[in-house]
Amino acid sequence: MLNDQTVAIIGAGNIGRALLGGLLHGHGLEPGQIRATRRNPAMLSDLQSEFPDIQIGTDNAAAVRGASVVVLAIKPQNARDVIAQIRTHVEADAMIVSVLAGLTTDYLQAAFGRPMAVIRTMPNTPMLVDEGATAISRGRHAGEHHLEIAREMFESVGRVEIVPEYLMDAVTGLSGSGPAYVYMFIEALTDAGVKQGIPRPTAFRLAAQTVYGAAKLVLDTGKHPAILRDEVTTPGGTAIAAVAELESHGLRTMLINAVATATARSKELAGND
Ligand SMILES: NC(=O)c1ccc[n+]([C@@H]2O[C@H](COP(=O)([O-])OP(=O)(O)OC[C@H]3O[C@@H](n4cnc5c(N)ncnc54)[C@H](OP(=O)(O)O)[C@@H]3O)[C@@H](O)[C@H]2O)c1
Repeated sequence: MLNDQTVAIIGAGNIGRALLGGLLHGHGLEPGQIRATRRNPAMLSDLQSEFPDIQIGTDNAAAVRGASVVVLAIKPQNARDVIAQIRTHVEADAMIVSVLAGLTTDYLQAAFGRPMAVIRTMPNTPMLVDEGATAISRGRHAGEHHLEIAREMFESVGRVEIVPEYLMDAVTGLSGSGPAYVYMFIEALTDAGVKQGIPRPTAFRLAAQTVYGAAKLVLDTGKHPAILRDEVTTPGGTAIAAVAELESHGLRTMLINAVATATARSKELAGND
């Protein structure tokens, strides 16, 4: 279904640019099916050099005309102004795909001032290396086929889960903010190796690859993480000694509380609490 669409990416910054790359290289959309905008002239010319055959510019209204999918990838604080610029130019049957953190489909609907198919998404930055985790949900005027088009778009840069919109703040606390927790974990694991005498660059590479490899094993095998953990904890061995140490410091509770705090903060920022 995505193959038949013309996609306008409004705000080709980190997230918008990654999606652009995914649609072209990961999904095989033709350059003529994609338009992208941003404002900074130097960054625009970099973008044009990277994607020479794409229609790239500053004119948001021109970009959305004739597009069947309009991706809003600007910052949330720019949303109102940008929607005011494009709302009368967006095609009547176009769908809106938003990556705007905290803005509900009802808010976007109201800003466009007419019933539109709106899909809300919460991606994360690993999509920059095609390993994103994106949750998507649909607004009241969007159908299953709109969800499928959005799913195909974000599957070109990682994995996708469909969730009801009320879970978006929780998703923000889990996978949206999650890379920050994992970076802290990798940094701490590196320090732990350095404390045991491993040179820092070696410890860093071992720590990062361990996280990457363990995550890949979970996803590729579909095995429950507790089973995989049991498989590496030999009775009386090293891993179980370390697991006992982590349990005594409440690793699980710490993460449950961290995600709860991030979820509450997401609600607070969106004015949903
Ligand atoms: N980064 C994350 O981890 C993450 C995760 C989930 C969701 N999000 C959401 O993704 C969105 C984008 O985030 P980002 O990290 O990609 O930000 P970003 O790199 O700053 O990208 C925003 C882009 O919007 C462009 N822009 C601003 N005003 C514009 C206008 N009037 N017309 C056209 N383009 C305009 C900016 O262009 P210029 O710089 O050229 O002005 C920039 O390229 C945000 O809404 C955020 O909530 C981000």
